[in-house]
Amino acid sequence: MKNFLLAVLLVSTSTVFAQVSTEPTIVEPTASLGSVMKAMSSALRKIAAQVSDANQNAASEQLALDFVKNVEASKAFTPKTIRDLPADQQDAKKQEYIKMLDDTAQLGKDLASAFHNNDNKLATDILAKLSTSKKEGHAEFK
Ligand code: HEM
Repeated sequence: MKNFLLAVLLVSTSTVFAQVSTEPTIVEPTASLGSVMKAMSSALRKIAAQVSDANQNAASEQLALDFVKNVEASKAFTPKTIRDLPADQQDAKKQEYIKMLDDTAQLGKDLASAFHNNDNKLATDILAKLSTSKKEGHAEFK
């Protein structure tokens, strides 16, 4: 009986240890797609406020490059609208998502060069195109 109790104790203790050691490591995500998108939005809002002010072109160029980095970062996420699709449709939709973000990143790069070349008229046109990209991206994936 004593041995039996000891055995029970050992098994239950090792089970406790086993549970502890197999506890999944919870990795806090550094960002969510929503927070990356908010950063994109904030950069574009600052740019829009100073798009005609040529004195701010160096700062606007930097903001456009920050925007591009965040657009690129968005590609690592899979929006819920895609995750909710049947498994056999997800890959194609993710490719479509990445393509829209690649096009958006290209516009961001064009925006940075427009500021670099002090072409504020072109920068204004590109901002309007980015507004359309946002609408299209959200209509499809948000
Ligand atoms: C062009 C500039 C864009 C801006 C400024 C922008 C901005 C935003 C903002 C402010 C949100 C809400 C974030 C929140 O409150 O949590 C959002 C969400 C979202 N956007 Fe964009 N967006 C842009 C383009 C795009 C594109 C091109 C796509 C897709 C190809 C896209 C896909 C999404 C998705 C899926 C969400 C929902 C994220 C979530 O909460 O899971 N966005 N975006």
